[in-house]
Amino acid sequence: MRQCRKKQGIARLIWIVLPCLFVITIVVSFGQEQPKAPVIPDKYTNLKVLPPDITKAHLLPIMKGFSKTSGHRCSYCHAVPDDLSSGDFASDEKPAKLEARELLRLIREIK
Ligand code: HEC
Repeated sequence: MRQCRKKQGIARLIWIVLPCLFVITIVVSFGQEQPKAPVIPDKYTNLKVLPPDITKAHLLPIMKGFSKTSGHRCSYCHAVPDDLSSGDFASDEKPAKLEARELLRLIREIK
């Protein structure tokens, strides 16, 4: 009988501890800083050579191509940090972007 009560006690303890652990896990995970997702927008506001309604699926390979061929990261042409966590891709602040735009223009004219 005593053994049985002991078992019940343990079972009750588990039922108290488990929900507490669950709640603590949730609270801790909310408290942690979530890693910032890269902010490459889906809509573009400052395209002067590429079509303004270009989709992300088309724009990104072009931009990645720019990065690869120039050997620079996105931040070489764009006013964004290397991890792309913030910043403004539409800004024309960096001279390299303007040069690259001229290049795009030339290519379009040749085509
Ligand atoms: C060699 C320079 C260069 C590099 C490197 C580059 N870009 Fe660009 N990007 C441009 C130019 C130029 C435009 C504007 C094209 C136009 O005017 O049609 C542009 C436009 C954009 C836009 C549209 C902004 C808007 O709202 O008008 C996004 C988003 C973008 N780039 C993302 C990226 C990402 C992500 C990378 C890195 C993988 C990258 N770019 C690397 C030159 C570059």
